[in-house]
Amino acid sequence: MNEPRGGEYATVIAAELDTQRAYKLILGCVVPRPIAWITSISAEGRVNAAPFSSYNYVSHSPPMLAVNIGLRAGKLKDTARNILETREFVVNVATEAARQPMHDSACDFAPEESEPEALGIALVPSRFVKPPRIALSPVHMECRLDQAVRLGTGNNTLYIGEVIAFHLSPEVFDGEVVDGAKLRPLARLGGPYYTTLGTIIRAPILAMPPGRR
Ligand SMILES: Cc1cc2nc3c(=O)[nH]c(=O)nc-3n(C[C@H](O)[C@H](O)[C@H](O)COP(=O)(O)O)c2cc1C
Repeated sequence: MNEPRGGEYATVIAAELDTQRAYKLILGCVVPRPIAWITSISAEGRVNAAPFSSYNYVSHSPPMLAVNIGLRAGKLKDTARNILETREFVVNVATEAARQPMHDSACDFAPEESEPEALGIALVPSRFVKPPRIALSPVHMECRLDQAVRLGTGNNTLYIGEVIAFHLSPEVFDGEVVDGAKLRPLARLGGPYYTTLGTIIRAPILAMPPGRR
């Protein structure tokens, strides 16, 4: 059971990788990733929507999320520019039901185009921030930028946002917890692949190390 796996492992020295290979490797290794379908708004008031899977929660008190947005041809993506300009964004949880419009919104729309408008994605107003929420998603988190941390060579920046408000649909929230099975989250694998939830295993943390009483 604890034996090393058969065959020779391939060892890849990260410093020898070019950007593209490093990207492919890290995205294949860190799986499955949740998807933040982010709505943001430009200084001129144009609503933008795009998905990001280099994303997770990084604090619970206060609740904070972090998303890594890369450069596109050396320039900020619209979401990154909007977040830096307005310091506000909304994370809409991407679910199975939202796959098609969410995926379509990843296409490189011109900055003067609004994905929700072009794709007919219905929006509802937020309560505390200007960017609206995506009606199709059962969970929305209104965020204010806490800090933007430039990483490594500067190709990637981590945008850390504090969640100001959660909006939770009764379809998935019982007043206490969000039911993962009902939420039906969509996740990203390496390459052009998505996945959905498989078997859900209940396993509370043990009060004692195994075998001790
Ligand atoms: C499922 C999925 C996950 C993605 N995750 C990221 C990510 O974590 N970081 C990133 O920079 N781009 C990511 N992208 C690509 C962006 O969505 C894409 O560059 C998009 O055009 C950015 O839109 P914007 O310019 O309107 O911000 C992802 C795309 C898909 C389909």
